[in-house]
Amino acid sequence: MSHATARACANLAFVKYWGKRDASLNLPMNNSISMTLDAAHTTTRVEFVPGLERDKVLLSERPARPAFARRVAAHLDRIRSIGGSSEAARVNTHNNFPAGTGFASSASGFAALTCAASSALGLQLSRRQLSVLARLGSGSACRSICAGFVEWQAGRDSDSSFATQLADPRHWNLVDVAVLVTDEEKAVRSSDGHQLASNSPFWQTRNQTISSRLAEIRQALLERDFHRFGREVESEALEMHAIMQTSGHENGGAWQSGIFYMVADTLQLINAVQRWRQAGMDVYFTLDAGPTVHLLCMEDQVGDVLQAVNSLEGSQGWRTIVCRPGPGARLLPGRDSD
Ligand code: PMV
Repeated sequence: MSHATARACANLAFVKYWGKRDASLNLPMNNSISMTLDAAHTTTRVEFVPGLERDKVLLSERPARPAFARRVAAHLDRIRSIGGSSEAARVNTHNNFPAGTGFASSASGFAALTCAASSALGLQLSRRQLSVLARLGSGSACRSICAGFVEWQAGRDSDSSFATQLADPRHWNLVDVAVLVTDEEKAVRSSDGHQLASNSPFWQTRNQTISSRLAEIRQALLERDFHRFGREVESEALEMHAIMQTSGHENGGAWQSGIFYMVADTLQLINAVQRWRQAGMDVYFTLDAGPTVHLLCMEDQVGDVLQAVNSLEGSQGWRTIVCRPGPGARLLPGRDSD
């Protein structure tokens, strides 16, 4: 087979990956814990074409931006070097959600690309090998290889830094009601943000306390203790944003005190969540590197949460995507095998 199609879901981190130990290998400072999201996915077809001069990358049927195409080509080089191939590829990739707004499209994208390209070259890789490879494309992509609830082991070196499943998707009826408050792409890419994290005066503290945070969230998740889980996850998201907002740096000759991924509507929703809890609703939030607010609740609360969101002023312009624990990265059989 010289072509294959794979699909991988985005994932939502409960314990965040923010800051790297090694930028070229995407080795994280700490373990992270996530849920793979069933409703937000990337589908990628890779076809190695004899005689094709160089890789061609289409995003939703249009030529991808040069920076993205270069990242894809660099990732294909890693996979070609394992497979002993020098053939260029046609890559066609499609997200079923808007990229750059707090859903990690790089996670689902590089997980799908890894599976499709390695399969198209006839490589039989284990989940662990796929996770290591996906991580080299984009750190959080290593978690999208696995289904359900997932932990990425920071590891000592490249081969020991990969994700494994903590619990399968049926373990817990946890739902992420993602509220996309804008379609505008974020101004600072997460790869730049990671580099700036250590500029924050709170960075040392985070690294000293992260192992107890991990233990708390892992245990609450495994015991399905929603309130303990929600409290910790919310504090974790705000801690990451505190680091972001205090990562001072020079930007084009001018001083910038930090990175602000939240917009006014993000804050409106965060305040609403505190009010809703006062009123007895069981809901918590988390955020990634973007303005999207991920509302966490149990399955039986989804209707109430959606109604509460839709009753807020300004919500007409928002989009909600309801995500449940999803499958790991997989090949799409039938469509493309020969
Ligand atoms: O994988 P990257 O480089 O896009 O970084 C992802 C960073 C966060 O989404 C903010 C946190 C995480 O753990 O997913």
